[in-house]
Amino acid sequence: MQATRARPAGRGWEWFCWLYMRISAVVMIGLVLGHLYFMHIVNSTDTISHEFVSQRLATPFWRIYDLVILLFAMSHGVIGTRGIIEDYVRKPGLRRGLQWTLYVLSAAFTIAGIYVLVAFQPGQLSR
Ligand code: HEM
Repeated sequence: MQATRARPAGRGWEWFCWLYMRISAVVMIGLVLGHLYFMHIVNSTDTISHEFVSQRLATPFWRIYDLVILLFAMSHGVIGTRGIIEDYVRKPGLRRGLQWTLYVLSAAFTIAGIYVLVAFQPGQLSR
C-alpha cells in the first residue's frame, strides 16, 4: 500500500499540487494547534457564546487567522478530493462533472466563509 502520492515528474501543475498538499498540511498543523489551544484550552467550548465570538472577531488578528485556515483547508481539501476523483472515476465526462461540482461548491463555501469573516459586525446581535 502506498501511503502518499508519488512525486510527479517535472515541475508542472501536478508537481505544484503535490508540493502544495505537503506545505499546506504542515502549515495547517500549526494553525490548527493554535486554534485548539485558544478555543479549547485557554477558553472552553462550554462557554462559547455570541459575545465571545464577537469579541474574538473584533480584532483583525483573529479574522485573518480564521481566513488563512479557511483558505488553506479549502484549497488543500479541493486538491486532495480532485486527486481522489482522478484515481477512481474513469469516465471522462463524469470525472469532469464531479470535479466541476467540487470546484463550484468549494468556491461557494469559500466565498460564504470570506463574506462572514469580512462582513461580521462585532456586537451586532448581542443583547
Ligand atoms: C492539520 C490538518 C491536515 C493535515 C496535517 C493534512 C495532511 C495531509 C497529507 C499529508 C495528505 C497526503 C498528501 C498526498 O499524498 O499528496 C493529505 C491528503 C488529503 N487531505 Fe489533508 N490534511 C489536513 C487537513 C485536511 C482538511 C481540513 C481536509 C478537507 C477539507 C483535507 C483533505 C484531504 C484530502 C481529500 C486528501 C487526499 C487524500 C488522498 O489522496 O487519498 N485535509 N492531507
